[in-house]
Amino acid sequence: MDYTPQQDRYTNGMVYRRCGNSGIQLPVISLGFWHNFGFIDNYATALDMVKYAFDHGICHFDLANNYGPPAGSAEENFGRMMKQCFAPHRDEMFISSKAGHEMWDGPYGGCSSRKNLMASIDQSLRRMNIDYVDIFYSHRYDGVTPIDETMQALVDIVHQGKALYIGLSKYPIEKLLYALNYLHEAGVPCLAYQGRYNMFDRLMEERHLQICASKGIGVVAFSPLAQGILTDKYLNGIPADSRAARPEGYLKTSDVTSEKIAKVARLKTIADERGQSISQLALAWVLRRDEVSSVIIGARNLDQLKDSLRTTSKLTLDTSEINRIEEILK
Ligand SMILES: NC(=O)c1ccc[n+]([C@@H]2O[C@H](COP(=O)([O-])OP(=O)(O)OC[C@H]3O[C@@H](n4cnc5c(N)ncnc54)[C@H](OP(=O)(O)O)[C@@H]3O)[C@@H](O)[C@H]2O)c1
Repeated sequence: MDYTPQQDRYTNGMVYRRCGNSGIQLPVISLGFWHNFGFIDNYATALDMVKYAFDHGICHFDLANNYGPPAGSAEENFGRMMKQCFAPHRDEMFISSKAGHEMWDGPYGGCSSRKNLMASIDQSLRRMNIDYVDIFYSHRYDGVTPIDETMQALVDIVHQGKALYIGLSKYPIEKLLYALNYLHEAGVPCLAYQGRYNMFDRLMEERHLQICASKGIGVVAFSPLAQGILTDKYLNGIPADSRAARPEGYLKTSDVTSEKIAKVARLKTIADERGQSISQLALAWVLRRDEVSSVIIGARNLDQLKDSLRTTSKLTLDTSEINRIEEILK
């Protein structure tokens, strides 16, 4: 093993929150592998980020079968890191994967059939060089597969010992309620719901947050920086190396609107007053909600990761700050 983690990793600033009513605590900041960890990316940079994250109390790593590009390569790189550095620390890590988006050719390579999920979990475990994932998510409600089929496959995956917990992601509210009930009745309750939540996307506030709280399910918020828009990066145009500019990125230049950037510029005043970066303000804002157990950030390099991690030194927003942010966002 060519890595010795920092001894003070659990006492050097990270904050942990209970995930719903479960026995699991999650770091308020988790690291996601959607972008920046595939074969097209620099492995050494990716490894440095994971080491730095682990050294600073991030023990939750969020993956999915299709992360890359190419699809599967983020999990393969993670598996290489496990072998190279983290295997002795497996019990300190909370690792998630997901299935449900298009992954391989043919009629079974996408959606959430039993056939897809059973094959996918095995593929993910092989790629990641681990025996089980801590949480396995249904990545989305696909609108085609009967929910009972998807839920029973998830329950069976837990019974097979391939996942410790189940999670759901991007489910419309009625489908979510049905799925939660199914899992509860089956004795494998849903641990966490993963949804997009940031200053520019507040759909989760309509019902998801409240329902998760009432059912004792933790909320794990993804894209808390709106894929980078809630940082200072786009204040003066679209940098060539940004996600919006790169062809493989899921952020489109058309998503970076002048209206949003004008709001980010106003948010910067509040961030400056707090002695924070815009990204730290944006993360603290998502975490102001008690229902949110963790935000999953993306980072392209160590500087971005360090910047986001500093959020934990000033997490609380006072009422006047929250009201001023509300005024800007409306
Ligand atoms: N369940 C789902 O369906 C789902 C969907 C999406 C995401 N997720 C999870 O959530 C994770 C995070 O999503 P995300 O990558 O969209 O999160 P995000 O934190 O909103 O965006 C991350 C991007 O913002 C930019 N950035 C980050 N920190 C910065 C900083 N300090 N200063 C300037 N720019 C900064 C970087 O983009 P540049 O490349 O432009 O520098 C970075 O790649 C994913 O990796 C995945 O694990 C889950």
